[in-house]
Amino acid sequence: MTALLEASGLTKSFADFTAIAGVDLVLPAGGITAVIGPNGAGKTTLINLLTGKLLPDQGRITFAGSDVTRFPASARVRAGMARTFQVTNVFPLLTVEENVAVPVLARAGRSLDPLRRIDSMQDVRATAQRLLAAVGLGGRSADVAAALSHGDRRLLELALALACEPRLLLLDEPTAGIASGERDRVLEQIRSLAAPQPLTIALVEHDMEVVFGLASRVVVLHQGKVLADGTPQQIRDDRRVREIYLGDPSVAPPLARAAPSPGPPLLRGSTSPGVEAGSASRAGPSPASRPNASQRWA
Ligand SMILES: Nc1ncnc2c1ncn2[C@@H]1O[C@H](COP(=O)(O)OP(=O)(O)OP(=O)(O)O)[C@@H](O)[C@H]1O
Ligand SMILES: [Mg+2]
Repeated sequence: MTALLEASGLTKSFADFTAIAGVDLVLPAGGITAVIGPNGAGKTTLINLLTGKLLPDQGRITFAGSDVTRFPASARVRAGMARTFQVTNVFPLLTVEENVAVPVLARAGRSLDPLRRIDSMQDVRATAQRLLAAVGLGGRSADVAAALSHGDRRLLELALALACEPRLLLLDEPTAGIASGERDRVLEQIRSLAAPQPLTIALVEHDMEVVFGLASRVVVLHQGKVLADGTPQQIRDDRRVREIYLGDPSVAPPLARAAPSPGPPLLRGSTSPGVEAGSASRAGPSPASRPNASQRWA
C-alpha cells in the first residue's frame, strides 16, 4: 500500500512546552481517518504541522512522494493538501458563490477583480456551482455568507477547500459549534466526499459516535504522542484509551450509529453551539479527573 502522506518523528515545542513529541503517522490513499484526543493533546498542532502552518522542530513529512517538510503552506496546497480550520473561516460579506470563486480564481492564477463581476465569468461560475453542489449548497449561491447557518458555513468551508482540488483534505473539528440538528447533514456531506472520489480525509472530531460511525481508522493523540491507532473497534476496546477518556477501563464507549439520525448524540464534545473549542493547557485537570470526563472525546 502506497502512503499518500507519511510523517515520522514529528516534534514541535512552544518555548519549553512540547506539544507534539515524536509523532509517526502514515495516511494511505483513500478513506477517512479521525484524530481524537483530549483538549490540548496536540491535534490542531499536528494538522498545522502537516499543512505547513507550522514547521516542525524535528521530523520529516512526505506527501505524494515528495519531501514537503520545509514547504510553506501555499506550496502544500499546490501539491494537493487542503484544510479547514477549527474556527469558521469564510468571507462573511461575499455571496456563497463569490466565496468559492476566490480560491477557484486563485488556482487559475487569476484574482477577484472588483471591476469585473463574477456574472461574466462563466467558467468560474460553473466550477463554483459544481463545488457547491458537491457539498449540498447548490441552492444557496446568491446568499451572503453571513446569512448562512453555522452548519452551512462549515459546508461552504468544505467547498473552499475542495476548490484547491486536493488529494488530502484535513478538517479540524468540522462539526464544532454546529447545532445537533445540522450535524448529521454536515457529516453526510463529508462521507459523500470520501465515497466516490479518490479523496483522502483526515479529521479531528469531538463526538465519539461520529468518529466511530464515520472513520475507518482512529488515531488517538495524548500529550503530544500517538497513544493508539486502529480501527474504531480496536480503539473502542483499547484499555488505555478508555482510561484516558472515561477514567475506567471497564467502561466501553457507546456503539456508533449505523446511519445519521436526528436528535442529540449519546456523547458529544463540550463545545457549545456557536462557540469554538479552545485549547486547554495540559497543566489543567486530566480528562479522567474532570466531572464530565465521560462526555469528552475529541
Ligand atoms: N502557538 C502556541 N503557543 C504556545 N502554546 C501553544 C500554541 N499552540 C498550541 N499550544 C499549546 O499546545 C498544546 C496543544 O494544543 P492544540 O491546539 O494542538 O491542542 P488540541 O488537541 O487541538 O486541543 P483542542 O481539543 O482544545 O482543540 C496546548 O497545550 C496548547 O496550549
Ligand atoms: Mg484543536
